[in-house]
Formats: sequence, structure tokens, C-alpha cells
Amino acid sequence: MTDQKVVNISINETDTSCEVPLLSGTMGPDAIDIRSVHKQTGAFTYDPGFTSTASCSSKITFIDGDKGMLLYRGYPIEQLAEKCDFLEVCYLLLNGELPNGSEMRQFVGSVTNHTLIHEQMADFFTGFRRDAHPMAILVGVVGAMSAFYHDTMDVKSEGFRKLSAIRLIAKMPTIVAMCQKYSTGLPFMYPKNSLNYTDNFMYMMNGTPCEPYQANPILTRALDRIFILHADHEQNASTSTVRLAGSSGANPYACVAAGIACLWGAAHGGANEAVLVMLEEMGDVSRINEFITRAKDKNDPFKLMGFGHRVYKNFDPRAVLMRETCHEVLNELGLHDDKLFKLAMELERIALEDEYFIEKKLYPNVDFYSGIVLRALGIPTEMFTAIFAMSRTVGWIAQWDEMITDPEQKIGRPRQLYKGATLREVQSIANRK
Ligand code: ACO
Repeated sequence: MTDQKVVNISINETDTSCEVPLLSGTMGPDAIDIRSVHKQTGAFTYDPGFTSTASCSSKITFIDGDKGMLLYRGYPIEQLAEKCDFLEVCYLLLNGELPNGSEMRQFVGSVTNHTLIHEQMADFFTGFRRDAHPMAILVGVVGAMSAFYHDTMDVKSEGFRKLSAIRLIAKMPTIVAMCQKYSTGLPFMYPKNSLNYTDNFMYMMNGTPCEPYQANPILTRALDRIFILHADHEQNASTSTVRLAGSSGANPYACVAAGIACLWGAAHGGANEAVLVMLEEMGDVSRINEFITRAKDKNDPFKLMGFGHRVYKNFDPRAVLMRETCHEVLNELGLHDDKLFKLAMELERIALEDEYFIEKKLYPNVDFYSGIVLRALGIPTEMFTAIFAMSRTVGWIAQWDEMITDPEQKIGRPRQLYKGATLREVQSIANRK
């Protein structure tokens, strides 16, 4: 006797049927294990955009979109954002447990010791046009890490995987800050290992060799919270990209570069940049209705950036936390009267009261507020997605590591529903119409 739950699938068309297992996780919906459906019935399953397909099992992050719940390794995001800093969250995502004091000291020590990048990597930057988008540079430079840090290249080696994770977490702030400095023509700043992770990033972004730089602790905390809230989000598009790239055994830095490329799009990580671009285009509260009308028009591809989410259909728990941080930062900097921030707050109010947005459950997502916070911190708009990439790196690498060690792991190879021409003969050129 087995207590395995099963599902019967029958296909009337072909008069075939099969019995497949129904898998249960520790939380969340059950999943129908369709691996044998094709073998048993000859049919594939069809799910463009993977809206109802679990591509793997994972122990890292849990989301309940209806309840607005996000857990990293079982801990609610609200508690992590309140009680931990970003590096503690990194440790948690990578190792499954929060660190104790000595584990944390050791982890911080390892990350801090790897903040420098190979001097020759700086040469890559000069190969890019000065006005290159930071994400374009990031895809290239992070991918190029595979050429510098290739000790064993053996993804089955736990030591190599752990070292790759530390290197990526440690070097991303250095590389992202270099992207920023390159675009402005200011000198690259070497990391300062006496500073904590987020202060060091602020220093490399905003400091110059000419004068001392002192970060504002409220602003540093706000940025650290952005890092925590973006650290992982289970099988989103960029994480799935990293897993798919890594499923062939590819080098982790190249896989993370693939994740960065995917994150760049406006429907994903590019949204916080797109929010600001949209607000700047809107320019004034008097134009909000015009933009909302466009967003509702089925014949207009325009979407209100920073609204809606594939998974969160009631509220985005990260947006609630980011909204709080947004107001803290605006208060600290006395920016509540800034024209663009007033516009953003008015847009939020109007959209939340609008029937279309209520009915379609389109709420401001985390990127709506993170874009506003990053702007208030003085970070140029085109750097926003690069900062998202830096925060998400830990999630990508934790998920990549989990995939490599999963005994069920296979190279990712989706199927298709072919709708092209049926079998036909090649005609000689003279006989073609
Ligand atoms: N503005 C106007 N209408 C919208 C918006 C929006 N921002 N988002 C969704 N809709 C509409 C769709 O047109 C669709 O309408 P229909 O039912 O009449 O066809 C309906 O709401 C459902 O939308 P879908 O596109 O099916 O939702 P999906 O889950 O596929 O997409 C997505 C989610 C991509 C995030 C979408 O809401 C969007 O493009 N938002 C704007 C971009 C954005 O902010 N992205 C950030 C995501 S968060 C992140 O990456 C951290």
C-alpha cells in the first residue's frame, strides 16, 4: 500500500489514458508530475510562459501570491527586512539557515576579502562606448569573470561552487559601481574593506579620491532593504534563465550573465527604470489620466510601469515594505515636495482607486517604489536594473547551486507545439512560385 496521490489523465481524442503522481510540497499547491505523460499517451503538455508548470523543486523561496506571502527559507520577508542585513540574508539563501555570530563573522570576512576584481578586468570597461547601458556592460563583464576565475571549472566541486558564490556576491558591487563611474568619466573607486557591504557600495558609487565620503545611515539602510527585497524570488524569468543555462553544466559566471540579460527587460527587472522613464515622460499630474487611459486601451501596447505582477494578485509584500522605506527616504531628504515624487504618489493614489486596476488586481509592485527610492538616493535611472542584478545575484547563485546538487536535475529542454509547414519537397529554383 502506498499513500502516493495520483491523477488520472485521459485523452478522449486518442482514447488513451494514464495515471501520474500528484506531488506535494511542504507548502503551496500540489503539482501533477507529468514526466511520463508523453511516454504513456504520446501527447505533450502545453504551457507557454510556464504559468502553471513547476520546472523544479526548491527549498529556497516560497511565494503565495494570493496571500501576498514571501518566505526565504521559511522566514517572512517582513521579519528579514526588519531584523537582518543583506549579508545575513545572503548567508541564509546560500546555506539554508541564518548564521550565528561566528558564522556571520567568517562569511563577512570571506566576502570582504573578495571585493577586488582582477586589475585587467578594468580594461573591459574602456572597450565600451561611454554611453553604453550599464546592463550591457554588466552582461559582458560578469560573463568575462569566467575568463579570470576559472580555478577548476568543475561545477560538481562543492568548493568551486562555494567560492564562485562568494566571488559573485563580493565583486558585483565593485563591478556595478565601475559601470556607474565609467559612464560619468569619474575614476573607479577601489573597495574599502573597513566599510560594511552596503556602505562600501555607496562609497564606490558616490565617493571620489578627492574628498572623504560619509554615507547617511538612513539611506544606506534603505539601499540594504532594496537588496534584501530583491535577493530572490523563486523561479522568475531571470532565475529560470540561470538554471536553464546552468543545466548544461556551463560556468556559473556565464550563467549569471545570462540571468542579467534576462533581467534587463522592462517586463522584469527593467521595470524600476521604466517607472522613472514613464514618470519623466508624464511630467505633470495633469497628464496622469491620459496615461491611465492609454494603459486601459486594448489597442495600445502601453502598460503602466510598476503596476501588476505575474504572481502577486492582491499585493506585493515587498512593495508594502518598499513603500515604507520610500517615505522614510523622502522624509530624510525633504523630498516630499519634489515634482516627480508628488507625481508618483498621485499616480499611486489614482491607480489604486481606478476600477480597471482594482478589477484586474493591478497593484504597485516593488519596482514602483524602489525606482523612486533609488532616484531619491541620487542613483542615475539607467543604473537601477544593475542594482537589481547585484541584489539578485545571491538568489541566482543559490538556485544554481541547488540545481547542480539536485539528483533529479536534467538539461533543460522544453518541447513545442509545432504549427509550421507540414512535410514538403524542395523544388528547384526555376519551379518555385
Ligand atoms: N498596466 C495596464 N494593464 C496591465 C498592466 C499594467 N501595468 N499589467 C497587466 N495589465 C493588464 C493586461 O493587459 C491584461 O489585460 P487583459 O486581461 O485585458 O488581457 C491583464 O492586466 C493581466 O495582465 P497579464 O499581462 O496577463 O499579467 P501577467 O501576469 O502576464 O504580467 C506583468 C505581469 C508582466 C508584470 C505585467 O503586469 C506588466 O507588464 N507590468 C508592467 C511592468 C512591470 O512593472 N514589471 C515588473 C514586474 S515585478 C518584477 O520584475 C520585480
